[in-house]
Amino acid sequence: MEDTLPYHAHPLKSFIQQLPKAELHLHIEGTLEPELIFELAKRNQIALDYPSVDALRAAYEFTDLQSFLDLYYAGAQVLVTESDFYSMTMAYFKRIHADGVVHTEIMFDPQTHTSRGISIETVFAGIAGACRDARIQLGISSYLILSFLRHLSEAEAFATLEAALPLRNKYSDLWIAIGLDSAENGNPPEKFARVYARCKELEFRLVAHAGEEGPAQYVRGALDILQVERIDHGVRSEEDPELVKRLIDEKIALTVCPLSNLKLRVVDDLGTHNLARLLRQDMRITLNSDDPSYFGGYLLDNYLASAHALNLSKDELVTLARNSIEASFLSPTEQAPLLSRLEQASTN
Ligand code: HPA
Ligand code: ZN
Repeated sequence: MEDTLPYHAHPLKSFIQQLPKAELHLHIEGTLEPELIFELAKRNQIALDYPSVDALRAAYEFTDLQSFLDLYYAGAQVLVTESDFYSMTMAYFKRIHADGVVHTEIMFDPQTHTSRGISIETVFAGIAGACRDARIQLGISSYLILSFLRHLSEAEAFATLEAALPLRNKYSDLWIAIGLDSAENGNPPEKFARVYARCKELEFRLVAHAGEEGPAQYVRGALDILQVERIDHGVRSEEDPELVKRLIDEKIALTVCPLSNLKLRVVDDLGTHNLARLLRQDMRITLNSDDPSYFGGYLLDNYLASAHALNLSKDELVTLARNSIEASFLSPTEQAPLLSRLEQASTN
């Protein structure tokens, strides 16, 4: 995104940048920038539907979730080798290092790749290789959230889980969680009740997208049927006051993605986004970038755009950063040094 947007000149930009932050809602396939899509397409001799980088970027005008998903799945077709998955993931880490991100929990969609004949081992090896290098080279820790595509069947989710489980030991430092993404409406949480029950038995941490385009009832379903610990998006929870009360009482985090919500027309205007209202009621709101290459901004952009549109105070910005660390899957012992760094940074 150009540096001419009003929020780029926000007076709290360097303050926000230096706050240690975690990113908890990020699809690694959604970080593929058009330039890298073209480079990988050339490397792998894959034909693209767009003549140039600019033409592809110009196509990023979405009317709803599905109009985005069509381009997102098409873009991911250029990923073939382990090195392609590594390049994509390392580019993300290098980009967010400057934003002050210290920990990230990355979603990836194996089915998008295995359906094209790419082995799940290749997908894991490339992404995990970059995660391990980023920890050493950039000091950014990460976990991986293997996500099922909800427009496919539960049987296909089970098959994906079965294919991935032999890799669990090899990637036990990273792969600790399960997620659910893709087209929400018409694919309610109960469709995946059995596979989530199995994942819980296997002691995976659980999250799911709910209440992005789908109704508040899907958020209830994600909590009650899938037994998730965090809700991805969840902005439509506000339509159900009892649910709002429950989310606050039970300290369930929402991983909100403001620029995504704007681009996919979940909201008309960031100035009316409910994240500030919910935050001010003490809901555990976190800010995230979702698919930054497609939605016009990485994590810092999401903080700046929200601060600008919703007049967030310094204290509120620190609370958002603190929520991101506290709602992460890091253990309390691992969170402690990040939280004390945050308290230090909040006085700057
Ligand atoms: N919603 C659902 N599925 C997705 C998203 C999203 O925002 N991004 C990538 N897959
Ligand atoms: Zn998402």
